[in-house]
Amino acid sequence: MAARDFSHLDHLECPRCGTTYDAHVLQRLCPADGSPLLARYDLRAVAVRPDHIGQRAPDLWRYHELLPVSDADHVVSLGEGMTPLLRAPRLAEELGLRRLFVKDDGLLPTGSFKARGAAVGVSRARELGVTRMAMPTNGNAGAAWSTYATRAGLRVTVAMPVDAPWITRAETVVTGGDLRLVDGLISDAGRLIGAAVQASTDDWFDVSTLKEPYRIEGKKTMGLEIVEQLGWRMPDVIVYPTGGGVGLIGIFKALTEARELGWVEGSLPRLVAVQASGCAPIVRAFETGATESVLVPEASTIAFGINVPKALGDFLVLDALRQTQGTAIAVADSALLADLQVTARLEGMFLCPEGAATVAATRELARTGWIATDDEVVLLNTGAGVIYPETVQVDVPTLPKDGVLEL
Ligand SMILES: Cc1ncc(COP(=O)(O)O)c(C=O)c1O
Ligand SMILES: [Zn+2]
Repeated sequence: MAARDFSHLDHLECPRCGTTYDAHVLQRLCPADGSPLLARYDLRAVAVRPDHIGQRAPDLWRYHELLPVSDADHVVSLGEGMTPLLRAPRLAEELGLRRLFVKDDGLLPTGSFKARGAAVGVSRARELGVTRMAMPTNGNAGAAWSTYATRAGLRVTVAMPVDAPWITRAETVVTGGDLRLVDGLISDAGRLIGAAVQASTDDWFDVSTLKEPYRIEGKKTMGLEIVEQLGWRMPDVIVYPTGGGVGLIGIFKALTEARELGWVEGSLPRLVAVQASGCAPIVRAFETGATESVLVPEASTIAFGINVPKALGDFLVLDALRQTQGTAIAVADSALLADLQVTARLEGMFLCPEGAATVAATRELARTGWIATDDEVVLLNTGAGVIYPETVQVDVPTLPKDGVLEL
């Protein structure tokens, strides 16, 4: 396919000051105000229709016109995307709802939805000539970027809090990432990476959350898949575990683009940002009417992926919540752990703690009536429960081999 038909990326735009930038060279933050830059497409040139997309291969590259990679030959893939949108009728009944779905991104390569951002971010970085990248992570993103960097033949240095889930260390190292552990939070890791990139005389590219414009483009495919899987229809509510907020901003962006293209119609779903009680800067800002969040100094939660004390894109998350009449809610670790067990028992779905936080939040929002019984609700499970074995304690006695097994 001719490169110009593969992607309709047109330019980059600063959502804060509106300045536009050339998308065909490497860009970082807006030089004027430090805001993340967003990819803008020439939507009038997009000719593909939803029924045609349905005939394409079942991965996220089926939306390539709305992705930033110019040439199909530059796509780095491990088969990511088109994860199932599963009905959860027993969980729905438990929560007092009728139409509940779980979008299960635990099935992606690397075990989490970070594969989406990494596949697109790495592909585009390589296309623009990057050879080495550096990033902070809460675990899953480091594992995913290491995996895709290796697949692309690039190098990545990853700085990860020492408390991050152990499996993500193993994933990063086994796939060839240069892992550095940091005795601190992701914000500390980010500061160290930023300083190292600045100090280096080599051409390192800082691929921290939203410091480059293309990770979010991969994550937005969650939103496109949800509406495609519902038959090009929008649900009433989407509930998202929010750390850096890239997924939520991405879903909002994707649905806005899909609506402009006429692929879907009507109001956007009410977006819900779920955080943990021990780290809820977005919830706090939402409740106080602020347009930006305030750093949480001693952030802590078992749902490590959402342990982000201050997000660079907080103002975009808050804007997406307000524009969709959404909300933000914090849940206690005890509540999300309890709902992780409930969901596993009722539906056979072993969610990650962040995914389980969306169940606990939905339980509360259904109880207060913010979510109505008939609302169609989609929860995002952003990772596989099996990559967090430490979240469930099991105590099972062992039989001697000549013992008696009673049923
Ligand atoms: C499993 C999981 N869920 C959710 C998040 C938060 O993602 P976002 O940056 O899109 O808010 C993360 C980020 O590390 C994660 O690993
Ligand atoms: Zn700007």
